[in-house]
Order: sequence, then structure tokens, then C-alpha cells
Amino acid sequence: MKIAIGCDQGGLVLKTAVKACIESLGHTFVDFGTDTEKSCDYPDFALTVAEKVADGTFDKGILLCGTGIGMAICANKVKGIRAATCADEFSAKATAAHNDSNILTMGGRVVDTALAQKIVTLWLTTPYEGGRHQRRLDKIAAVENKYFK
Ligand code: RB5
Repeated sequence: MKIAIGCDQGGLVLKTAVKACIESLGHTFVDFGTDTEKSCDYPDFALTVAEKVADGTFDKGILLCGTGIGMAICANKVKGIRAATCADEFSAKATAAHNDSNILTMGGRVVDTALAQKIVTLWLTTPYEGGRHQRRLDKIAAVENKYFK
């Protein structure tokens, strides 16, 4: 898989660990920044990654900020994005299996690097179950079609 990565200064500490994890699983990534601890605006990176996942340039995205929450709020404004914030292993597995989430977000002030690697591994290796979950995703898509231009 090709994975787009982005972060703000709050997620920078997780990014090296996340990249190593992606490579160890045999996937590739492109890092869209940020690369310094200088304060920046997470929506800029969320939008870049979300658009590249939504248009199919990348299979999935990973966004890292202080909490993971701002990144998810912004990414979920892009049609076709199902961004999930995870801070535990159960949620990582469940959102892959049930929500077919195409962007994972995590917080560098919430999870440590070891837990982040476990979350990424579960998220990337757990297959989407389809079935009854597809009916629910279809309803989410209908909400998008109602409100998105
Ligand atoms: C930046 O201070 C912080 O607000 C950001 O990293 C993130 O936690 C937003 O949700």
C-alpha cells in the first residue's frame, strides 16, 4: 500500500516511529510534513493528505497531531474520507474492520511511540469485514451526498 503521512508539531514525535512501522510491514509512504517543531496549522496537512487519499493517489493516510482530533475533524470534511482517531488497540482493529477507515489519526500527546506502532500495525493488517458494515458505510456516503457540494 501507498500511505500518505502528515503531522503538525504535536505529532512530530510519533512520525519517525510510524514510518518505521509502515516500512516494516512492507508498505511505502510519502511524508507531507511538517518536519520541524515550529508551530504550524494542522488543517494544512490534514487537507493535503485527505485529498490525496480521496482522489486515489494513496491507499490510506496517517495524520498525527497533539490529540489526533483536529486532524480527524478536518480530514472528515473531505468527501470520501473516513478518518478515525485511535488511542488504543481495540479501536484500531475495530475501525479497520467495521468503518473501513481510510485515514488513521493519533495524538503525540496521547499515545507513546510503542503504542502508536501497535495501533498502526493493527489498523493496516485488519481487513474490512464488509457485510452489515457496508450498509452503514453506504448510509454515511448518503449523508455526504446530501450535504457536500
Ligand atoms: C496544537 O497545539 C494542537 O492543537 C494540535 O496538535 C491538535 O491537538 C489539534 O487537534
